[in-house]
Amino acid sequence: MQLVTEDNITDLAVERWATARDPRLAELMTALVRHLHDFAREVRLTEAEWMAAMQWLTRTGQISDDKRLEFVLASDVLGLSMLVVQMNHRLDPAATPATVLGPFHIAGSPELGFGGDMSDGLPGQPLFVHGTVRDLDGKPVPDAVLDVWQADDEGVYEAQLGEVDEARLRAKYTSREDGTYCVRTIAPKGYTIPMDGPVGDLIGRTEISHFRPAHIHFLLDVPGYEPLITHLFQEGADYLDSDVVFGTKQELVVRFEHRPPGETPDGGTSSEPWVEARYDFVLQRRS
Ligand code: BEZ
Ligand code: FE
Repeated sequence: MQLVTEDNITDLAVERWATARDPRLAELMTALVRHLHDFAREVRLTEAEWMAAMQWLTRTGQISDDKRLEFVLASDVLGLSMLVVQMNHRLDPAATPATVLGPFHIAGSPELGFGGDMSDGLPGQPLFVHGTVRDLDGKPVPDAVLDVWQADDEGVYEAQLGEVDEARLRAKYTSREDGTYCVRTIAPKGYTIPMDGPVGDLIGRTEISHFRPAHIHFLLDVPGYEPLITHLFQEGADYLDSDVVFGTKQELVVRFEHRPPGETPDGGTSSEPWVEARYDFVLQRRS
C-alpha cells in the first residue's frame, strides 16, 4: 500500500491522471493537477477557503443554462478567454484581430440585404457600419457572411431576455461582389456584464470596473480564410481602457462620425441625423 503524504500527493495524482487514454487529455489533466496543487501550496489554502470555492463553483453551475453562461463569464473576467484567443489567432498584424466571443451570440440570425436594418425600430441613434471585406493583398472577398449582434440601448442582449418572437439586434449580412457590406443598426452603448450571479459577487469585492465599452460583435467564417470573431469599438467610448473582459484592441477602435439628415451609405436617405462607422475587415487565408 502506498502511503499518501503532503509531499507525494502531487506525484501520485499526476501518475493516476497520466493514464488517460487520449494523450492530449493526459497532458491537460496532469498539468492541471500540478498547477492546482502548486496553487494550494502557494496560498496555503485553508479548508474554509476550499469550501467557499466549492460553493462558488456550485452556484456558478446552478445559475447556468443554455443562455446564461456563467462559467464563460468567469473565464472572461479572469482574462482566460482572451489569452486563449490570443494564443490561437496569431494573425498577420495587417489582418483584423480577433477578440472574445462572449456569451451572447445566437446562431441562426436572419439574413438581411445590403443596409438592411437589424434594429427594426428599437430606440437609438441610427448607425451605419460599412466598408469592405478583403484579404491581405487588398483583394475584395465577395459572399463573406458577417454575423452581427449587439446589445440594445439599455445594454441588454436578446439572449438575456425571456421569450422573444423575432431576432433582436442580430442579423447576417453578405458582402457584395466588390467585397462591400453595409449594416444598419443603432449606436451601441457601454454596458455592465451580468452582476447578479457568482461572478458579480466576486467582482463586487474588488475595485474592478464591471463595464464593457460600446461595441458591436462580428463573426466572419469564410471558406478558405481563418475564421474571425471580433468586435468594433466606438472611439472615445468609456471603459476602453478598463474593459472587464480584456477584449479591447486599438485596431478595432473605430470613429463614429455624426452626419446630418441626408444620403446614407446604403444608397437611401435619412430624415434624421445618423452616425457613420467605416471599417474594412481584412481576412487572412487559411494556411
Ligand atoms: C459581450 O460582449 O457580449 C460579453 C463578452 C464577455 C462577457 C460578457 C459580455
Ligand atoms: Fe457584447
